[in-house]
Amino acid sequence: MCQKKRHLVTAALIYANGPIHIGHLAGCYIPSDLYVRFLRSKGKDVKFISGTDEHGVPITIKARDENKSPQEVVDHYYKLINDSFKEFGISFDIFSRTSKEIHHKTSSEFFLNLYDKGTFQEITSSQYYDEKEKQFLSDRYITGECPCGNNNNAYGDQCEVCGKTLSPMDLKNPKSTLSGNSPILKETKNWYLPMDKLQGNIEKYIDKKKDWKSNVVGQCKSWLNDGLKPRAMTRDLDWGVSVPIKNADGKVLYVWFDAPIGYITATKELEPENWEKYWKDDETSLIHFIGKDNIVFHTIIFPMMLMEHEDYILPENVPANEFMNLEGEKISTSRNWAVWLHEYLNDFPDMQDELRYCLITNLPENKDSDFSWKDFQQKNNNELVAILGNYINRVFVLCDKFFDKKVPGVSSKDIDSEIFTDLKDIIEKIESSIEKFRFREAMSYVIDVARLGNKYLTDTEPWKIFKDNPERVKDIIYNSIQIVANISIICGPFLPFTSKKIKEHLNINDLNWIDTGSEIINPDHIISGKAHIFSKIEDEIIEDQIKKLKLNNENDKIMPQKNIIEFDDFTKVDIRVGTVTEAENIPKSDKLLKLKVDTGLDKRTILSGISKYYSPEEILNKKVMVLINLKPRKMMGFESQGMLLLADDGDGNLSLMQPDSNISNGSVVA
Ligand code: 2FM
Repeated sequence: MCQKKRHLVTAALIYANGPIHIGHLAGCYIPSDLYVRFLRSKGKDVKFISGTDEHGVPITIKARDENKSPQEVVDHYYKLINDSFKEFGISFDIFSRTSKEIHHKTSSEFFLNLYDKGTFQEITSSQYYDEKEKQFLSDRYITGECPCGNNNNAYGDQCEVCGKTLSPMDLKNPKSTLSGNSPILKETKNWYLPMDKLQGNIEKYIDKKKDWKSNVVGQCKSWLNDGLKPRAMTRDLDWGVSVPIKNADGKVLYVWFDAPIGYITATKELEPENWEKYWKDDETSLIHFIGKDNIVFHTIIFPMMLMEHEDYILPENVPANEFMNLEGEKISTSRNWAVWLHEYLNDFPDMQDELRYCLITNLPENKDSDFSWKDFQQKNNNELVAILGNYINRVFVLCDKFFDKKVPGVSSKDIDSEIFTDLKDIIEKIESSIEKFRFREAMSYVIDVARLGNKYLTDTEPWKIFKDNPERVKDIIYNSIQIVANISIICGPFLPFTSKKIKEHLNINDLNWIDTGSEIINPDHIISGKAHIFSKIEDEIIEDQIKKLKLNNENDKIMPQKNIIEFDDFTKVDIRVGTVTEAENIPKSDKLLKLKVDTGLDKRTILSGISKYYSPEEILNKKVMVLINLKPRKMMGFESQGMLLLADDGDGNLSLMQPDSNISNGSVVA
C-alpha cells in the first residue's frame, strides 16, 4: 500500500442521461467503494469523490429524444442515480454535479489558466455541419463507418465495436444523427490541446507506473504508439461551460475537459478550506476508478491538463476495469438489456450485499466478465447462505445453547492459537489483494475465513464434548466468537450491510481493521441467540427476473419515435386508397409481389415486399393504402410507382393497412 498521508479516490462522473446498471457498478463504483471502505477502516485520511457528468452531447441527445430541456434531463437522472447509490450503500463523501455554478467557475478558471500560459493552439478548421439543423456535428452528433471496418455506426468520438477513440474526420460516409443527412464542411475556430507536443511528458509519467494494470498500460501504449494528435478542448454547442474568453460565443468546453475537473470542484465543495492539500500536495495519493472506455481521458488527457496547470499532483493509479456482460450479451441501454439498480432495489429490498457479492466475485478486473441470474442465485445460496451465513449462525446458536448468549471466558490465550495464526495470514492476504486492486481474490479470502471457522467447529465438535468437558467448549466458543467478530470487520469493505448486521448481533459497534485479532469480544458480553444473515433465493424469483429481462428486451423491438417533423413536411406525403386489381409473383424474387393498383387517378404498377406474408390470390381485390408520390424505383427489372402501407412489429411480422369501409379509390389519407 502506498504510504502517503492521505488518499483522494474518485469514481467516474457518470453521464446523467440514464439510470445506473450492474455494468456501471462492476466497472467502477463497487471497486472504488470497497477500496475506500478498506482505507477508512484502516484509519486513513481518505476522501471519496463522484457525481454526475451533466454536459456534452450524450445529454443533449437524450433531451432531444425525450423532447425535454437538457436541464430537465440531468435533474431527473441526478436524483434517480443519487438515490440508487445511497440505497445501495455506495459511500461517497460527496456526489456532486457538473451543472453547478461552482463547477462552471472552477473549470472556466482552469481553462483560463492554460489559455493564459499559451498552452492551447487556436485552430480554424473545416468541421462537419448539419445545414438543416444549423449545428456543428461533434462527438455523438455524427455517426459513420469506423476505419476498423466492423462498425457502420461508429460515433464521432468512439467506436463501440473496436473501442477506439475517434474524431469525426476519421469516419467514412458520415451522417448527422440529428437529421440523418450527410453533413457539409464548414469552418470554425476551436482551442486545441497540443497532445503531440506534450506526448513526451506523458510517456515519462506512464513509464514510471510499474504497478498499473496491464489492460490500462496496454491502452495507453496503443495511443502513444499511434502518436498523439492535437485535440479540440472546445465545442460549437449551446450546452456546457461557456468558453471564458472573447470571441467564443456559442462555444463551450469539451465535456472531457470539464468533467474530470468535476473531481476538483467536488473536493472544493467538500473541503472548502482544505481542498488544495488533496490536489496539490505530494503526500496525497490520487486514484481514479473508471471503466475501460474512460482510460485515455484519465491516463493521458487529464494528466496533461494537470501537468500544464503546473501545481497539481498527477493520478497515482487508474485501476480501470473491463466491461461486464449480462447473460452472455453486451449490456445495452438502448435494447434495455440491463439489470437496472433502481429496479433491483425494488425487487430485492434489503439485499444490497447479495448483489454486491455476486458482482465482486465476477468483477471484470482483467477481462470482460458475465453476470447471470442463475449465477447470482447459486452464489447466494451456495456461498453466502451455505458458507458465510451458516457459519455465523452456528456460532451464535451454540453460544446460546451452552452459555445462554453470554460470551464464555477462555482458559488460556494459547488454546488453539494456530487458528488465529491462520486467520492473521488470511487477513494479510486480503490486505495485500485490496492494495493491488485484486478485489475478486480478496473476496474469496473473506469466505475462506468462514471456511476456517466452520472447519474449527467441525474438528472440535463442541456439541459432542460439552457434557464431559464444558471448560474445553468455553475455549472453542470464545475463539469462534472472536472469528465471527473478525469476519464482521473484514467483510465491511465488501459487504457493508452484512458487516453491520453481524456487529448488531454481536452487540458491538465501532470495530475497525486495527481491532482484528484474537481478543475482540470480552467474556460475559451478551450477544444474540441466533443470526439470520442471508436467505435462500428460490427458483421462481430468478425465473421472474429472467422473464422480465427478456420481456423488456422484446418491448424494445418497438421502434423509437423518429425526429419531430413540421406539419408542412407531412402534407408533402400523398397517400390514397386503392384496390389491387392484379397480383403475381416475380420469378427469382422471394420477397416481391408485382401488383397493379387502381389509385382512382390511374392504374399503376407497384412492387411490394410482402410475398412471405400474402400470396397473389390473398391480396387480389383488397383495398389498400398507397403512397403515390414516392419517386419511382426500379426493382428486378420493373418500375415501382408507389408503395403499399404496411405495419411492421419489428419482430418479422407485417400487416397490410386497409380502410375499414368500402371508401372509393382515390380517397385521400391524411
Ligand atoms: O463515461 C462516462 O460516463 C463519463 N461521463 C465519465 C466521466 S469521468 C470524469 F472524467 F468525470
